Amino acid sequence: MSIIEWIQVLVLVTGCSSGIGLAVAARLAKDKLRRFRVVATMRDLTKRGPLEEAAGETLNKTLEIKELDACSEASIKDCVSSLPDRRVDVLVNNAGVGMIGPLECQSMAAIKELFDTNFFGLVRLVKEVLPDMKQRQSGHIVVMSSVMGIQGLLFNDVYSASKFAVEGFCESLAIQAMKFNIKTTLVEPGPVVTEFERKVYELAETMDLSGTDEETAKIFRELYLPYSKKVFSSLGQTPEEVAEASYPPLRHQTNRLYMPMTALKHADPTGRLPLEAFYKMIFKHDSVFNASLGVLRLLQRRAGKK
Ligand SMILES: NC(=O)c1ccc[n+]([C@@H]2O[C@H](COP(=O)([O-])OP(=O)(O)OC[C@H]3O[C@@H](n4cnc5c(N)ncnc54)[C@H](OP(=O)(O)O)[C@@H]3O)[C@@H](O)[C@H]2O)c1
Ligand SMILES: *[C@@H]1O[C@H](CO)[C@@H](O)[C@H](O)[C@H]1NC(C)=O
Ligand SMILES: *[C@@H]1O[C@H](CO)[C@@H](O)[C@H](O)[C@H]1NC(C)=O
Repeated sequence: MSIIEWIQVLVLVTGCSSGIGLAVAARLAKDKLRRFRVVATMRDLTKRGPLEEAAGETLNKTLEIKELDACSEASIKDCVSSLPDRRVDVLVNNAGVGMIGPLECQSMAAIKELFDTNFFGLVRLVKEVLPDMKQRQSGHIVVMSSVMGIQGLLFNDVYSASKFAVEGFCESLAIQAMKFNIKTTLVEPGPVVTEFERKVYELAETMDLSGTDEETAKIFRELYLPYSKKVFSSLGQTPEEVAEASYPPLRHQTNRLYMPMTALKHADPTGRLPLEAFYKMIFKHDSVFNASLGVLRLLQRRAGKK
């Protein structure tokens, strides 16, 4: 191993077959100063095409692709143990799945599966890398959370709960980690236009809504879905924008246009302010809401250009 490789920071990223994980891995691998050696992982290596393309010249140089399934302890152990000295300087826990729709229409099995990836996947990875990080007295655990880990939203009950779990876990861990010189960062993007969005809407369109009452089904189809799509098209960031973010202590919201909505939570400990704001946004939204989304869209385009 050359000296360069030794001074490089080893970053292990999960869920790199698409979206944010792919963008983060490619972005770090292409670092002009070649500061990072990226182990870009995915559970299904047959999906490596898009990452290989994004990695370009860096493939097998600063970026290496490995298999890792966040739901399998054995797979995680195999991957980490295959690294020289099992050294992971930075863990980017990104693998995650979405779920929207009325709770009555979700099976317990699907709900547990989501937690198995979004929450227990993180727990498995941290259990695997933390002891080594502690021993080295250095490391950084970066976790893809969401604005829904700060503020819940109707029809996102289970997804939001999984991100709250992630937030509570990291917030607690961060205190101990600090004692061992290990950094912890929760990245909290708003809407990001990735496969995630496509998969979730695709499922929503074909979802069997017979398990819920007519009014709820109607609210989901006719109010929530159009609202949510509008939010994505007006506030949505690209995964590359999220990958650009630098990570300050503990929390980093990537989308400043979404911040007024998460700020409500901290402005009112009783929770009434955000509750009423989101209620009005979904159930009483009118041309004013439409117009403000239009303004935000303009701002977003401008911000994107600079
Ligand atoms: N898109 C958004 O609006 C948004 C907003 C806030 C936060 N986030 C969070 O950002 C993260 C990445 O999402 P994304 O938007 O980039 O979505 P994406 O394009 O769907 O990417 C999700 C990635 O996670 C992988 N994955 C799922 N289950 C896995 C498992 N058991 N083991 C390993 N990898 C697994 C997927 O692999 P496969 O291809 O094999 O399924 C895929 O590579 C998620 O944690 C998500 O909750 C997304
Ligand atoms: C990169 O390395 C992998 C595994 O060692 C190998 O299968 C693949 O062909 C290599 N790709 C390039 C472009 O060198
Ligand atoms: C809001 O905008 C959509 C197009 O994005 C339009 O179809 C709809 O009629 C508008 N609603 C109101 C109340 O202005």
